[in-house]
Order: sequence, then structure tokens, then C-alpha cells
Amino acid sequence: MRDQGGLVEGLAEYVAGLGNPGWVVDAFRAVPRHRFVPGVALATEGEPYVIDLDDDPDAWWRAVYSRQAIVTQLDDGATDLRAGKGDYTSSSSAPATVAELLRLLDPEPGDHVLEVGTGTGWTAALISHLVGGHGRVTSVEVDAAVAGQAAKNLAAIGCSPVLLVGDGALGCPDGAPYDRVHVTCGLRRVPYALVAQARPGAVIVTPFAPGVGERFVARLRVLPDGTAVGRFPGFASYMWMRSQRPPAVPDDGGGRTSPSRVHPRVIGRAPAGADLAMSALTGLNAHVGREEDRYVVYVYDPADPGHWAAAVHQDGERDHTVHQVGDRPVWDELCDAYFQWASWGEPDHDRFGLTVTPDGQSLWLDTPGRVLRA
Ligand SMILES: C[S@@+](CC[C@H](N)C(=O)[O-])C[C@H]1O[C@@H](n2cnc3c(N)ncnc32)[C@H](O)[C@@H]1O
Repeated sequence: MRDQGGLVEGLAEYVAGLGNPGWVVDAFRAVPRHRFVPGVALATEGEPYVIDLDDDPDAWWRAVYSRQAIVTQLDDGATDLRAGKGDYTSSSSAPATVAELLRLLDPEPGDHVLEVGTGTGWTAALISHLVGGHGRVTSVEVDAAVAGQAAKNLAAIGCSPVLLVGDGALGCPDGAPYDRVHVTCGLRRVPYALVAQARPGAVIVTPFAPGVGERFVARLRVLPDGTAVGRFPGFASYMWMRSQRPPAVPDDGGGRTSPSRVHPRVIGRAPAGADLAMSALTGLNAHVGREEDRYVVYVYDPADPGHWAAAVHQDGERDHTVHQVGDRPVWDELCDAYFQWASWGEPDHDRFGLTVTPDGQSLWLDTPGRVLRA
């Protein structure tokens, strides 16, 4: 007989060892992760590998009670998990991240909470445990099959949040106003509906990546004027909200190649504060491509992916090249924004913040009045 209690306690102690408060740790004890992981899933530590409860129960239990995220859907369900590879589109997030975001959310008993991205249902169950009662948690999932499995997982442990299938960007007005809003998919833009459906004083916690490089956790406070303002207390990499997935960058082979005086690594390895500044000042998206003997930074205009560039450092070469496509010199703009950030004294990410209003969102430096614009 497997020592389930010992495994659950081990995970709780791990989460406690990360400095999380007792109420987070107790929630991990009360809501065991294994009740939310399907029999076949994909473990993600190191090289991804399939875990199958029937075939190899030891490997399954080990993975479920390890520190890793467990992928529970590939390619929006189009690819069987047993295939072992594809785009990750739903998961049980890494326990350390789940705990950190719960700590930041800080739900109180009696609160009404909106979750976006039900996934396996584990987070909805943890929050339900923390706020108590029935039906105080509303969770929205875009994928009907994922939502259906979550409903079964939750019912099996006697937990009854309100579950909806739909686009979480619209929130759920029926359950509003909310005291807490927890998004568990990655956002580039915070949908205003989530702010509008929250009470003044409410807290919104969401994975957030404005476009260039690093992925953050944003913690926003809703103000009486209907705006939300906050900062980036941590980092977290989540699957994108479906409607906010980055566009595919076409490689039509056109464009022009020129030398780049800036080493692509300067931009690709820029600190998180620089990523926020570059995102705000350019509105561009950029990421690093890891290739065998090349270091590449891809940059593109998300509104028009026909404007893109690849800045390349070839191993062993002293000079660097940039291949730019479209009229907009996106690589040059990105470099200019980087050096503007450097000229400010290289402010770190904790000096930046985010404001969300009915008209959109803006990033700022030091105070909400000092908005950075493209
Ligand atoms: C990392 S998983 C969420 C993990 C989940 N909270 C848990 O405890 O298992 C992200 C989920 O967000 C969902 N999602 C993506 N876009 C969404 C949207 N627009 N509205 C609601 N859910 C969405 C995905 O289908 C996926 O199930």
C-alpha cells in the first residue's frame, strides 16, 4: 500500500521550505495533487516523459509528488498525451508556482474568487478550501474536454466551485463582484472585464508577459475608479490564454541582411527590467532561439508579424548579423529601447508597474504617473 499521506506531507513540507505561510501549506495538505492528475500525463522535468499509472505506478506517483509541472493536454487535445510531444495546452502547474501565486492572491475565508483557466481543477479546489463554503469560487475554462475532466476531479473530492466553459477573458459577470481574481494562463494584455468584475480593493494575480523576454507574475489592486494598478513580484511561465498566443512569424525568405553592432546576447540576456522597458517602449515581441551553433534573437511586431528580424551570433564569429523583413526596423528599435533603459541607470523589474483601465494597459516606471509609451 502506497504511503499517500507521506507523499502529500512531503509536498507540503517542500512548499513550506520555500517560505510559504502556514495557510498555503495547509491547503496543500488538504487538497492532494494526485486527485487532479490523469492516469496518463506528461512529466516535464528534463526531457519530457509519459507517465502512466497502470503501466508504471511508481513513476506516476514520483512525478505527481515531485516539483514539476505535469502536462495534461497537448495541442488543444488534438495530440494524444502518449505521443509525448506537442504544444503544451493544459497542465497541473509546478507546485512551487501554484503556492507562490496563492500566497500573492491571499484569499480570505468568505471571499468570492474568479479563476481563469480551470485546467485540472487543483487550483480551484485549493482556493475553495481557503475561502470555505460552497460556490464562492467561479472557474472558467475555454476547453470543454478539460473542463469536463476538472468537473469530475472536483466532484470526486466533494468540492463544488461554479464551473463554466467559455473564454475567461470575458470573466463571469454572474458571479461578480469578486474579491480576488486569479488567472492561471499567460496574459500579454489584462482583459478589462476582469477588472470591471472585481470590487474596489480586490486583488488580481496573473502570469503576465508584455512581449519581450521574461515572463512575470503581476499582482494588481483594483481601485474605486475602476482601474487596477500593481507591480511584478515574481516570475512564472504559463500556457498562454488562447486568444493571446503569439502569432507565427512567417519566414518568407525576403528582407535584407546587415551587420549588427550590438551582440544579440546583450538583448537576449537583458535583465527583467530591460525586458519591461523594451516591451513598453516598442510594443514589440522578442524571444531567444536556441540553435546548435547560433544564438538568435527573434523580434517581431505582434500587430503585423510581417515585420520581423532575426539577430544572429554565429559561434566563433566576431561580427553579428541581422536579417530584417518588412519596413519597420524592429531590431534597431529594440536596441534603442534597451539603451534608453541602460541610460536610466538600468532599473530592475521591481521598479516597473502596470495599470489597466477601460482604454487598455500601460507600463510605468517608479510611479503610475510615469507611463512608458511606444
Ligand atoms: C496551466 S493550465 C491551468 C492550471 C489550473 N489552474 C490547475 O490548477 O490545474 C492553463 C489553462 O488555461 C486554459 N485557458 C487558456 N485560455 C483560456 C481562456 N481564454 N479562458 C479560460 N481558460 C483558458 C487552458 O485551456 C488550460 O487548461
